[in-house]
Amino acid sequence: MSHICPVYKPFPIQIDRARGIYIYSTDGKRYIDTFSGIGVLAFGHSDEDIKKAMIEKMERYMHISNFFLDEDAEIVAEKLIQKTGRDGKVFFTNSGAEANEAALKAVKKFRKGLIVSFERNFHGRTIAALSVTGFDGLRKPFEPLLSDVVFLPHNDVDSFKKLLNERGKEIAAVFLECVHGSGGLNVLDGELAKLIKEARREFGFLLVADEVQAGLGRTGKFFSYQHFDLQPDIVTVAKALGGGLPLGAVLFLEDVADVFGYSEHGSTFAPNPVALAGARIVLNKLTDEFIHRVAEKGRFMKERLLRMGSGILTVKGLGLMIGVEVNVNPEVLKQVALKNGLLLNVVSGNVVRFLPALNISFDQIEEMLELFERSLNEVYGRDHVEKVDSSKS
Ligand SMILES: Cc1ncc(COP(=O)(O)O)c(C=O)c1O
Repeated sequence: MSHICPVYKPFPIQIDRARGIYIYSTDGKRYIDTFSGIGVLAFGHSDEDIKKAMIEKMERYMHISNFFLDEDAEIVAEKLIQKTGRDGKVFFTNSGAEANEAALKAVKKFRKGLIVSFERNFHGRTIAALSVTGFDGLRKPFEPLLSDVVFLPHNDVDSFKKLLNERGKEIAAVFLECVHGSGGLNVLDGELAKLIKEARREFGFLLVADEVQAGLGRTGKFFSYQHFDLQPDIVTVAKALGGGLPLGAVLFLEDVADVFGYSEHGSTFAPNPVALAGARIVLNKLTDEFIHRVAEKGRFMKERLLRMGSGILTVKGLGLMIGVEVNVNPEVLKQVALKNGLLLNVVSGNVVRFLPALNISFDQIEEMLELFERSLNEVYGRDHVEKVDSSKS
């Protein structure tokens, strides 16, 4: 009997090692990893440069606490702020949920009032982050959560207008996830983005961009909000930042920069200096040219997916953050793909979420999608035959 909380359903394989986009099991099989540790491994498994920097730091020390400042903390913070094109300060965390917790604390201190979020936004599992997460099923067992949170239907311009008319002045903050990760890879509507931008100017609420999954080059821009000409006040990042080790950050920009004074927030572990060494390399590698290639690869991947015939309903997302809504049984598809050497991640019921390593090559995209197509055809063929058979009987 396992002594581990059954909150996950791990793949039935034992991993021996992992390199680039490949995972090797102890029984000698090779699998293509389409989701890179849920978007954590932007440069694939065991990237040599990241590993080297981490080992160098580890040879010096592994943890020093915030009673000392690791030199990489300033380097990483400066680079993150520089990427916003504005001025600000960074608080480091260990995870995405912790980053959103810190953002919520900052909102509460800065401006009292309503917090607006959208259905299918995912911001984390801790109590405050869950309070702004737009999944009823995830929130319900843990209620009451934070009060004063309003959820609007995603991409519904009219309901946002209605809220502005009725309670615009009460809004303290709006939480955005410009490309839904767990929520099914839905992309923020341009008209809603424009309205939010105008409303922020009029009512002065804080705009919080959750870039935990969609940030750091994933969508073909450094931050996904940059597709929409938005200027958030607070930005949260995590996942890919630490190069595989836990590291998150909250960027407090411009007027919010000094929201936390001495001892108003803290963490024992964050920022781990080894993770910071990884982050320094990750950020160095995320050049404009590299991110431009991510956008190209994303377009290539989408076109290839759209050329596939049976079994696909829609293809969504931006850059290398792509969702494929399938009309076959997703669990069966996962099993067939596994047998074919492809590891798939399904979110929101029937959306296969592709978050491949950002340095995946065009040939590797082809290799990954060939396996996907083969698996999809197998399942679609099987489903189809079963449907034809049952309609006969
Ligand atoms: C957009 C987004 N925000 C927040 C989180 C929570 O991050 P973590 O699991 O590191 O707490 C996630 C995790 O999937 C996420 O995708």
